[in-house]
Amino acid sequence: MSKVIIMDHPLIKHKISLLRDERTGTKDFRLLVEEIAMLMGYEALRDLPTELVEVKTPIAEAYVPMLAGRKLAVVPILRAGLGMVNGILALVPSAKVGHIGLYRDEVTHEPHEYYCKLPENIDQRLVILPDPMLATGGSAIQAVDFIKAKGCKNIKFMCIIAAPEGLEALKKAHPDIDIYVGNLDERLNENAYIVPGLGDAGDRIFGTK
Ligand code: PRP
Ligand code: URA
Repeated sequence: MSKVIIMDHPLIKHKISLLRDERTGTKDFRLLVEEIAMLMGYEALRDLPTELVEVKTPIAEAYVPMLAGRKLAVVPILRAGLGMVNGILALVPSAKVGHIGLYRDEVTHEPHEYYCKLPENIDQRLVILPDPMLATGGSAIQAVDFIKAKGCKNIKFMCIIAAPEGLEALKKAHPDIDIYVGNLDERLNENAYIVPGLGDAGDRIFGTK
């Protein structure tokens, strides 16, 4: 079964509320997305494995926990997922970064892939898949399909806002991944936008439209 973790930290909720405001401009929007990604990343990475390593402090020798290995990749779903990458990298600077390019057809709302570049040995890594929006779930499902086809087994999907429809679809399609959600919103509208949502995440991050 998918592990679904819906954030309840007041800082995350507050920053998501600021993001929603239509008066929030590109610069602040970008900064907020990055900050939320870092706060969510802190939660999502709480089960990273550690190992005991010998360290000599000024006082004594000790065995202390350090992250075991560096097998982690952050693979944003373009475009909007890019906005979350630096927040996650602030926590794990040595992570490798891949990219999956998908866009939603404006009429059918079906995802279309246009780019993919993944780090080496992706099948041996924990893959963090950030995308601010989980609407119908089509893009996330296709991205996870793709990552799994490369042999990845340890996948965590992170979104800032999810619609119940998209969350159900993703859980059903990929019951073996962990899903981290900043806020679970009410529903989708007739154009498959999340209500109340925040509008088009990519356009708001990059200042397009
Ligand atoms: C947005 C968003 C997700 C997708 C979610 O991307 O960033 O990738 O829509 O919708 P879904 O759950 O119904 O698939 P979009 O296709 O607008 O592309 P963009 O990031 O390039 O703007
Ligand atoms: N993509 C977005 O950017 N926003 C939505 O509400 C739905 C899909």
